Amino acid sequence: KKRIAVMTSGGDSPGMNGSVRAVVRMAIDQGCEAYCVYEGYEGLVQGGDLIRQAQWEDVRGWLSEGGTLIGTARCKAFTERPGRLKAAKNMIDKGINALVICGGDGSLTGADKFRGEWPSLLEELVKNGDISTEQQKTFQYLNIVGLVGSIDNDFADTDATIGCYSSLGRICEAVDYIDATAFSHQRAFVIEVMGRHCGWLALMAGVSTGADFIFIPESPPDRDWEDQMCDIISKHRNLGKRKTIVIVAEGAHDLDLTRISPNKVKDLLSTRLKLDTRITTLGHVQRGGNACAYDRQLSTLQGVEAVNAVLEATPETPSKFIAIIENKIVRNPLIEAVKSTQEVAEAIKAKDFKRALDLRGPEFAE
Ligand code: F6P
Repeated sequence: KKRIAVMTSGGDSPGMNGSVRAVVRMAIDQGCEAYCVYEGYEGLVQGGDLIRQAQWEDVRGWLSEGGTLIGTARCKAFTERPGRLKAAKNMIDKGINALVICGGDGSLTGADKFRGEWPSLLEELVKNGDISTEQQKTFQYLNIVGLVGSIDNDFADTDATIGCYSSLGRICEAVDYIDATAFSHQRAFVIEVMGRHCGWLALMAGVSTGADFIFIPESPPDRDWEDQMCDIISKHRNLGKRKTIVIVAEGAHDLDLTRISPNKVKDLLSTRLKLDTRITTLGHVQRGGNACAYDRQLSTLQGVEAVNAVLEATPETPSKFIAIIENKIVRNPLIEAVKSTQEVAEAIKAKDFKRALDLRGPEFAE
């Protein structure tokens, strides 16, 4: 029987449990044995009890649970070859040569590297007497498939990452709460949202809540942004608006790549516009909590497709990840997507903001 393992890695995101549930159940449905790797790559390196077989009922009720129930960790050991050697040995000991990983771009890049190195790792294990040549033959290639789990929606070649809509929903809910108190006191609020180098959460939250002004990394404001922002907010106030909401992505900066901090925005609003201003950093409230319907559905459909991809892969197939493009679940080449994702960061660093926006896709261009 084929043994397929599933693992979550990097920052947790709502929907990760749905994807583990789907992979476990689809694997069993297809006559395979399912395994869970606990604590991300750490579990792969440590092995033992951190790699355990999962049965159908073990994942019951997981769709509505937030975070990742099999744990996640940032693992230094796996970034070095000795760690990956131990991971390979642990997998072979358990009879596993297919791995579905749900994580962000760093985690998926690590997986592809592991796959590329696999034959040489096995070679070394044989040389050290850790595995037999028979085992080397049986496990000669490693099959990996990626699922993109992240609240940031920062991964190229897919329209949505697992968790981003849950997070966006939570941000909107929080802004609605803030709206009520801001309205009552006629106050201004500067709200910082997550997203790392990506402005998707800030942009979509701004559109969804009717914010007065937003700051995102891909599109820094003009040099006279301080005047522009104050003019727009004064205009809104003159139209009778009792509250002001400014959303700042945590990665926001100006044209010189100097960070635009919530404090800086607050100072402007209070000193220039004389608005009673508060800062709210939403923090990890945006990441925890249960998944919205969309993420439950996305993680389930993609988990099923990940198992299909594992079963149909050949040694020649380049590593794939499961995407959603225009509402269709598709398999896309992993490394191209990782490269395009990194290109956005490079474009921003090179101050080529037009390119950064183009790479992010149509919703940013509009
Ligand atoms: O990638 C998800 C994310 O929540 C980012 O939005 C944020 O920058 C980062 O992780 C926070 O990481 P940590 O939980 O390690 O502080």
